[in-house]
Amino acid sequence: MKPTNSPKTYRVKSFGCQMNVYDGERMAEMLGERGIVPAPEGEDADLVVLNTCHIREKAAEKVYSDIGRLTKGKTQDKAPMIAVAGCVAQAEGEEIMARAPAVSMVVGPQAYHRLPEMLDKAVQGERATDTDMPAIAKFAALPERKRTNPASFLTVQEGCDKFCTYCVVPYTRGAEISRPYGDLVTEARKLVDAGAKEITLLGQNVSAWSGENDKGQAVGLAGLIRDLAKVDGLARIRYTTSHPADMDADLIAAHGEIDKLMPFLHLPVQAGSDRVLKAMNRSHTAESYLRLLERFRAARPDLALSGDFIVGFPGETDAEFEETLKLVDAVGYAQAFSFKYSPRPGTPAASMEGQVAKEVMDERLQRLQAALNRDQWAFNRATEGRTCEVLVERKGKHPGQWLGKTPWLQSAWFEGDVGIGDLVQVELVEAGPNSLAGQLRERVAA
Ligand code: SAH
Ligand code: SF4
Ligand code: F3S
Repeated sequence: MKPTNSPKTYRVKSFGCQMNVYDGERMAEMLGERGIVPAPEGEDADLVVLNTCHIREKAAEKVYSDIGRLTKGKTQDKAPMIAVAGCVAQAEGEEIMARAPAVSMVVGPQAYHRLPEMLDKAVQGERATDTDMPAIAKFAALPERKRTNPASFLTVQEGCDKFCTYCVVPYTRGAEISRPYGDLVTEARKLVDAGAKEITLLGQNVSAWSGENDKGQAVGLAGLIRDLAKVDGLARIRYTTSHPADMDADLIAAHGEIDKLMPFLHLPVQAGSDRVLKAMNRSHTAESYLRLLERFRAARPDLALSGDFIVGFPGETDAEFEETLKLVDAVGYAQAFSFKYSPRPGTPAASMEGQVAKEVMDERLQRLQAALNRDQWAFNRATEGRTCEVLVERKGKHPGQWLGKTPWLQSAWFEGDVGIGDLVQVELVEAGPNSLAGQLRERVAA
């Protein structure tokens, strides 16, 4: 590649999970430290970071179509400098370098703190790949956080040791690690100083977080949440994503005891058939999952539940799929994500017998989503008439309209004299399938 001018503007495009969004924000902050500014809306950026996701085939393919779109018909001096980050970078770094000469930098999710050095090389015309996995080094090397959204993310745990047979995450994000307690309390305080009212603690397996508190005691996620709840100015705490195997009694109890811990639990189950769950290497059964939810609901009766589902896992029969629908009926989810099984390179399930035909998966997904949508709307209707606290996150579509989240993570929109970051009391007056219309009752001091 030819040497080029240092980029002046950047755009970070994040795909995939919330952790990728968090990583994207941190990369943007690093570029900001370098004096590179976000490209104005609608204008081309000098540097584009594609922060990619490898979880399903469609997500991974997007990288190449995005690169094509960014460089189409452009010579090197007209095209933006491109960095590929995220989980596709980790899984297919060398392939990207070989297949896409327009890419100057490939940087994995555990190495992105080195992006500025790579940028120096790229300006000299040197292409660079960094997919090392140095445990935890990244966080210490990132700049301080100065600005943030009212609802912010904080990565507390990364990686996964569960090895579900369909999933790439243990390969792209590496082994489970927990960030140290002290670092997290400090970062949470900084986020609050920077404007956060709500913090969602993130981890691929967040309930596996463990650490040592300031008194030298071993603590789990519940212990961390209890201490973060003492941070002045922080009004709401959430966490995601959990695995049913790592939910301990203390975390369940915390839902009944800590007001700041929001009544919402995202707990993926994936399927309702025990045979399928076993083949997926999920260490729970449908029954043990339901029993676990009962314990959570006993601690916090108004808990809203969310989950993830995969239809068409290799070998899944019609009758086994019906068991997923049965489980959905039994739970009554407030919201959920559902996906067609996507064979991922290097995972055990990709070479299992009995791969399910696309049409069968389509039909199953449609039926599952119909059931989930029905339950989501029912959940929203059940909250009609309630007045609850809403955190204002952004302006709505129409002038004077605002959009925020209820404690149960529903989107609520309303009109009134408020601002982004305000916590307000809103009466939920009309439930739609995906959001609720509300009426402002009063502001609450944050
Ligand atoms: N660590 C989290 C999130 C993993 S990825 C967890 O265990 O819940 C988010 C979701 O993507 C998973 O819960 C699963 O439902 C889905 N998923 C993962 N791999 C998949 C695959 N190969 N095909 C389809 N969906 C997949
Ligand atoms: Fe993937 Fe399973 Fe780990 Fe979740 S728990 S990240 S689905 S391997
Ligand atoms: Fe995707 Fe990586 Fe997240 S594969 S879902 S971006 S951990």
